[in-house]
Amino acid sequence: MKTHPALHFAGRSAVLVAVFKITVVSAQISTNAQLCLSQTNGGTMSLSLSNSGDQVWVVQSSSNLISWATVENVKVFNGTYHRSYTNGAKGNLFYRAFYDSTQQTISDTTANVLSLPATSYNYASPSLPASFSVNPILAEDNTPGNDPTTDAGATLGRALFYDKRLSTNQTVSCASCHVQANGFSDPRQFSVGYNGSLGTRNAMGLSNARWYQRKKFFWDERAATLEDQTLQPIQNPIEMGMTLSALTNRLAAEPYYTNLFAAAFGSTVITTNRISFALAQFVRSIVSTQSKYDIGETVGFTNFTAQENLGRQIFFGQTVPPVPCSVCHATDNFVPTTTLNNNGLEYPYVDLGVGGITGVAAQDGLFKVPSLRNIALTAPYMHDGRFTNLAQVVAFYNSGVVSNPNLSPPLLGPGGQPLRLNLSAAQQAALVAFLNTLTDTNLVTDPKLSDPFNYGN
Ligand code: HEC
Ligand code: HEC
Repeated sequence: MKTHPALHFAGRSAVLVAVFKITVVSAQISTNAQLCLSQTNGGTMSLSLSNSGDQVWVVQSSSNLISWATVENVKVFNGTYHRSYTNGAKGNLFYRAFYDSTQQTISDTTANVLSLPATSYNYASPSLPASFSVNPILAEDNTPGNDPTTDAGATLGRALFYDKRLSTNQTVSCASCHVQANGFSDPRQFSVGYNGSLGTRNAMGLSNARWYQRKKFFWDERAATLEDQTLQPIQNPIEMGMTLSALTNRLAAEPYYTNLFAAAFGSTVITTNRISFALAQFVRSIVSTQSKYDIGETVGFTNFTAQENLGRQIFFGQTVPPVPCSVCHATDNFVPTTTLNNNGLEYPYVDLGVGGITGVAAQDGLFKVPSLRNIALTAPYMHDGRFTNLAQVVAFYNSGVVSNPNLSPPLLGPGGQPLRLNLSAAQQAALVAFLNTLTDTNLVTDPKLSDPFNYGN
């Protein structure tokens, strides 16, 4: 029997004394379980459990440390649990929480595990601006015929996206590295995987990943489709370290998943194909079309400040000489149409990008550019997260583009030298102001894209 020492002691004028204590009575408990306790006001104590094994905990209280009464049994569903307890009696009160292998009886039903709306959110047909239903953006839609987005499929994908069960030690979910508040990107330069190891690239934002005409995924486009992409982080030895057979077995043991798979695909069978399809449906549901820029489109940009409009004109090449941003960051989705590009970050190439996958030297240093939508939320920038803010990005394009054999033509100046924009400080600030208009604050709070797990209250 392992006992963690009492973690907290709090009192107010001898009215309340509360102590929480974790007592571990079995080796089955996950070794990194933690309990935290704080007194939120005179008579209320808040319990916070972190337990990647998702176990049931018995919470008890006692006024004399001799006889204990069970307050409740609580189950951790996705690594974390919170609850507040109020001491109505106003006497001394001690609390303890412990694991008991015979009391693991709370089951993972959909109603217990997830907070889902009675009527499903609409994922299948989000309302889109007019420009999204015609070319060129229509042709950028990478939804395949065999995996149309349905409400039930994306609901399942949402649970999978936020579920730490997808990593081998149940500590990392997709959302650990693709954070809603950060436009589904990672604010860290390099993401941290399930065992603490770092990757070598910055996790890009996922806004409007649905629209990219080359239909490939990752900075080096190594995934041919989004359906292929979604299984890769799960099996990546640094990111989630899981095998697909272990994952299907683990999910099949969860009643809430058999439910969600049945709703999405018509039967309770859990296959890797279904996992990848549902995750792809959820990622394609990360649709951002309510930015200041989108409103501007409908009102002739009268909602923009003078500075934002100057930035818009610079971005779209309407100043003299023209600045080429929109040649590569094109359409209302701000993605290249058919080209792969090198924007002259460095030479020699530290990361070969697409060339590292294809072995074609002419593709060394070429990278996919994800949509610039919500770019103000997705710092740091570039495949290696080298720039911490947009002012640095703009300063780089203004004067820092590096000559290299594969530098894309729009960034070549006279005589084949890298283009120098010679923008004034005010023009550079205007370009940053314009990029800020691509932020969609609805996306970062939209409940249909948020974590659905029940973490107590
Ligand atoms: C440990 C961090 C981490 C985890 C966990 C993670 N990702 Fe990522 N994700 C990244 C990084 C880093 C990249 C860029 C990697 C690259 O291009 O080589 C990326 C790229 C992507 C892309 C490509 C976007 C594009 O426009 O090409 C998608 C889509 C994506 N992740 C979805 C997911 C999904 C779905 C999951 C869960 C199954 C997930 N990620 C789990 C870090 C992570
Ligand atoms: C020749 C094509 C090209 C042009 C022109 C271009 N870019 Fe880029 N841009 C890229 C590529 C390629 C990347 C990704 C490079 C990488 O990470 O290696 C990128 C990345 C970015 C990023 C970071 C994206 C992210 O998610 O980290 C921003 C912001 C950006 N560009 C803004 C601009 C602005 C502003 C201009 C005009 C001053 C501009 N770009 C001109 C090709 C271009």
